[in-house]
Amino acid sequence: MGAYETFLRPLVFTLEPERAQALAEWGLRRRRLWRFLTWHYDRTDPRLRVQAAGLDFPSPVGLAAGYDKQCSVLDSLLALGFGYVVGGTVLKDPRPGNPKPRVLRLTRERALVNALGFPSVGMEAAAASLERLRGRLSAPGKPALVSVAGLTQEDFLECHARLEPLVDGVELNISSPNTRGLRVFQEPETLARLLAAVNAQRRKPLFVKLPPSHDPPSHDLFLSLLRVCKAQAVSGLTVANTRPVEAPALAMGRGGLSGPPLLADTLRMVTEARAEVGQGMAINACGGIATAEDALRALRAGADTVQLLTALVYQGPSVARRINRGLARMLDETGRASLGEMAGRGWGRGDRNDREADLV
Ligand SMILES: Cc1cc2nc3c(=O)[nH]c(=O)nc-3n(C[C@H](O)[C@H](O)[C@H](O)COP(=O)(O)O)c2cc1C
Repeated sequence: MGAYETFLRPLVFTLEPERAQALAEWGLRRRRLWRFLTWHYDRTDPRLRVQAAGLDFPSPVGLAAGYDKQCSVLDSLLALGFGYVVGGTVLKDPRPGNPKPRVLRLTRERALVNALGFPSVGMEAAAASLERLRGRLSAPGKPALVSVAGLTQEDFLECHARLEPLVDGVELNISSPNTRGLRVFQEPETLARLLAAVNAQRRKPLFVKLPPSHDPPSHDLFLSLLRVCKAQAVSGLTVANTRPVEAPALAMGRGGLSGPPLLADTLRMVTEARAEVGQGMAINACGGIATAEDALRALRAGADTVQLLTALVYQGPSVARRINRGLARMLDETGRASLGEMAGRGWGRGDRNDREADLV
């Protein structure tokens, strides 16, 4: 256990989860102090470099959408050793989200249940944050993506068009279990129409974040959404969002489970997704990644990168660096020259989606 887990987390966890999150964001806004504390984190081992969807990632360990919904501290988060970050999810108009309480810690499982329901500052405020961060985001050469969602196709398109120029790529979130209106985009035909429209306007890589497959009906849906994404030649998939569960302690009575209980499903879904879409499309494994071993298992299952959120809450600011170090140690132990070689993947050998060569 690191210093955060031993000394700071017991204090932070005395706060209600959303207050603890606000405190973390306050800390991440103290940029000078943060830079001073993390200057050495930026030296990620060059063997961890990954190419996917036409982007260059200095490490495959990404921060999942939902931690920095306003996109206001993405630069500080990148300084923690993440190979990339996903800001948002941002919606076109500001919205308060669901009633509180809406986040629950399951400390024994090191898991969370959330039913936030997309509290968003709206796309104009997010764009203003991204504009402020512009120089700082591109400087370290680490991609910053933004997750967008909408209740209508027009909202999705407007939000995508407004934010895409300010980031390196966009992730479409069609998979929140907590927002009823969004589920319409889990209809394969509706998703196909949305993706065709976004493809017509996009200039940068496009990722789709899928809902998880955790029972037979959701598995059928997962497979049909994979086929739509393949047919529409998106750049990549994020597999997957939280798993819907009952949660009587939350105002909504239910929410999305995240953290280690998701890992087995994540690995299975990544394997299935890779088998369905072939080698040309990027896959980001998301759900339950907490250690270098988890990350390597996901890469071996067919992922190009991993994303995490709950592990940051439980392990604190050194989590990405710890996973990076663990992966580098495994490279030393196995005598492999690169992560692609260790994971049995072909990065850097030109197996990117052909579309991307024209787009990026
Ligand atoms: C508090 C919280 C807020 C989240 N908000 C979003 C969000 O806005 N958009 C999104 O696509 N996923 C969101 N997620 C889901 C995460 O991005 C991720 O898919 C999920 O937590 C599984 O990864 P993990 O086990 O590493 O946390 C959220 C998760 C949590 C715990």
